[in-house]
Amino acid sequence: MPRTGDTCTVRFSFDGEVIEAAPGEPIASAIAARGLSIARSPKFHRPRGPACFRSACDGCLARVSGQPNIMTCMVAAKEGDVVESQNTLGSRKLDLLRITDWFFPDGMNHHELFAGVVGVQKVMQIFARRVAGLGRLPAEIVPARAARRRDVDVLVIGGGPSGMAVASRLADAGRGVVIVDDGLEIGGNALSLPGAGFRGLRDRFAATTAIEVLAQSTAVGTFGDDVVVVTPAETLVFSAGERVLATGAHDGVLAFAGNDLPGVMSARAAGVMLRFGAIPGARVVVVVSPLGGPFGEAYASAIGKVAGVTVEVVRGDPVAAKGVDRVRAITVRVDGANREIEADAVLIDAPRAPSYELAEQLGARLVHEPRGYVAQAPEGRVREGVWACGELTGCPLDLAAIEADADALVAAMLGRVTG
Ligand code: FES
Repeated sequence: MPRTGDTCTVRFSFDGEVIEAAPGEPIASAIAARGLSIARSPKFHRPRGPACFRSACDGCLARVSGQPNIMTCMVAAKEGDVVESQNTLGSRKLDLLRITDWFFPDGMNHHELFAGVVGVQKVMQIFARRVAGLGRLPAEIVPARAARRRDVDVLVIGGGPSGMAVASRLADAGRGVVIVDDGLEIGGNALSLPGAGFRGLRDRFAATTAIEVLAQSTAVGTFGDDVVVVTPAETLVFSAGERVLATGAHDGVLAFAGNDLPGVMSARAAGVMLRFGAIPGARVVVVVSPLGGPFGEAYASAIGKVAGVTVEVVRGDPVAAKGVDRVRAITVRVDGANREIEADAVLIDAPRAPSYELAEQLGARLVHEPRGYVAQAPEGRVREGVWACGELTGCPLDLAAIEADADALVAAMLGRVTG
């Protein structure tokens, strides 16, 4: 598979094969750029590849240097890492448990399989127990960590464009701000939209030294007024005067045959790979479904001139992806007619659904729209001490809209009246 530039200086092994990665590149990106699948689905053992690059699918799970079930899209490759596929009987390429898929083409309820059939039931139970679960136990047991309490003026959850815009304004106003994001670096969706004008926003944020950044850190839940944040080093229980939710939106996932084939991924996820020069295929088809955007077009214009890569943008509804171990073609319904296009990478740009889960825990009222549940937050206010902004509240992923949204929210937080 092609890559842009020659920036790979990190080498690790994947099932014994040497893989090269750019500094900071997620393990899954470097593997996908080689056209390899990573995982097998838990039940039918279908091949899986990374699809989201935001810990929202299971296509990148692997054992990394002795630790099972690592989401390799969220971990930067390190020199000498030993990455192994898991959940196979045989090997990643030839997994004998794949026969499950062929024996039960219409699905299978393993809870009731052969139940009541004397003799066979017991054999099935033994077999099911052997194959249940994912991965083997860690090579080393990680000791439990004590949680530590922290106080802060403002805790901003989500380091995408909205979170950065609000955090910068609050820090400028003298508030102590901690911003939490589960990505390898701060930036969120802006990282997949290089030409959308977010650079200035990111630069302003980076220049505001008063903000404490917790990257690769997840706000796992709220308990009363506390927010529990798991960082790579420790678990923190935050007591924050104000909590700002900037959790963004989930990729739209469309139901069509073969949407789980390696090589089918979100257009935003492909944008994450591209930051490191990695491209998931040589024949790339971008499918922008109705109300989708802006990631597909942005991606296509970014790789349009890369040697050895063809890219086609199609507006329509994906109907089916074809392939056995990897996508080979996609059928798209365009203007009422089906069109089949050869492809070894299919990037889906579908309407995104607000990431409302934490907001709901914190008492936000949700309203259902065609794209999903949207948190209601007039002038950013959810309730006393809880604020929300950005795509979570329905704000478009557009620089001017995000800046105006952040202005209104911060003015309300600081008790100022906007113009
Ligand atoms: S969870 Fe890693 S690519 Fe989806």
